[in-house]
Amino acid sequence: MGEGIGSYKKKRVTPFPKECTFSKKDWDVLTGYWFPVAAVEEVAEKPIGIKLLDVHLVLYRVDRKIIVARDLCLHRGVPLSMGWVDGDDIVCPYHGFRYGPEGDCTGIPAHPGAKISPRLCINIYPTVERYGLVWTSIASDEEDIPELPAWEDEGYLNILPPSIDIAGSAGRQMEGFLDVSHFAWVHSESFADRNNQIVPSYKVDKTEYGLHVEYLSSVSNYGKGMKHLEPANFEWLRVFDIFPPLAARLTVHFPYDGKLHILNCASPVSARKTRMFSPMARNFDVDAPIEDTYEFNLQIFNEDRAMVENQKPEELPLDLQAEAHIAADKTSIAYRKLLRELGLGSNYTS
Ligand code: FES
Ligand SMILES: [Fe+2]
Repeated sequence: MGEGIGSYKKKRVTPFPKECTFSKKDWDVLTGYWFPVAAVEEVAEKPIGIKLLDVHLVLYRVDRKIIVARDLCLHRGVPLSMGWVDGDDIVCPYHGFRYGPEGDCTGIPAHPGAKISPRLCINIYPTVERYGLVWTSIASDEEDIPELPAWEDEGYLNILPPSIDIAGSAGRQMEGFLDVSHFAWVHSESFADRNNQIVPSYKVDKTEYGLHVEYLSSVSNYGKGMKHLEPANFEWLRVFDIFPPLAARLTVHFPYDGKLHILNCASPVSARKTRMFSPMARNFDVDAPIEDTYEFNLQIFNEDRAMVENQKPEELPLDLQAEAHIAADKTSIAYRKLLRELGLGSNYTS
């Protein structure tokens, strides 16, 4: 069947977006994964339009349940995010077509009582609420969400900073999150030290889920005003667990058994636009004002943003010959190889 209305079924395949910024091959691979698209808190009854992998989605709440649907009325192509929710239905503002929580058209006001074709059904995507975020997938019904077990642990403070939009590719951002030799350069205003540049060697292990990296160094994770808290000669362990394609958890081991877990989720809006979500959990300073953490997090992301938004090519080159590597780049080399193994192209966006 073609892509006309005749092919609309409940489990209908989402068509490759008309102005897709990804190559078809990369889009096919990436749509098979789950990504966060909004904070649970942001989704109310009033529909909101967002984009994931160049697919326009509408998010809204019906009877406490969050619905993620394709943001397109099947009648004349108006975005349903311009409409409203009435009862269980989302209503299109142009001619009032109604769609139920399963996606099926439940009302055509111009012809009340007329039989509605079951093929008149919009795509509804699977949703999971986790870490304060709404997760979905364009093409996979099999839940596959990166792990942040500390979120459920007692004694941990959960923090979900506001999402951050960056005009850069998700792959570049992800690699930056894994990069240990930029601390002294990019983060010398926030936590690192311009005079502490040397990267000790470290190991990268391939795991069932992706990669595991343990990096031990003297680069402190305390912000500028906090350095006095650090015991003399303290060694900082940073553990990276990478869940390809576009998420990684960093666990920073603080003094006195403190642990901070940050899940870096780069949600690919399009090939060169990324919405960052970074739920985190820590077992210290659990009563400290959360706004301070938001601010520190934003400062660090902004420092990284300046690099990520200006890198050329904008996409992450997966051909290892395309850029120069140093020993400190061990993680990013392994990450690039892994993405290649997933079937992403050598320059994985168009
Ligand atoms: S375009 Fe939506 S009802 Fe006509
Ligand atoms: Fe950084």
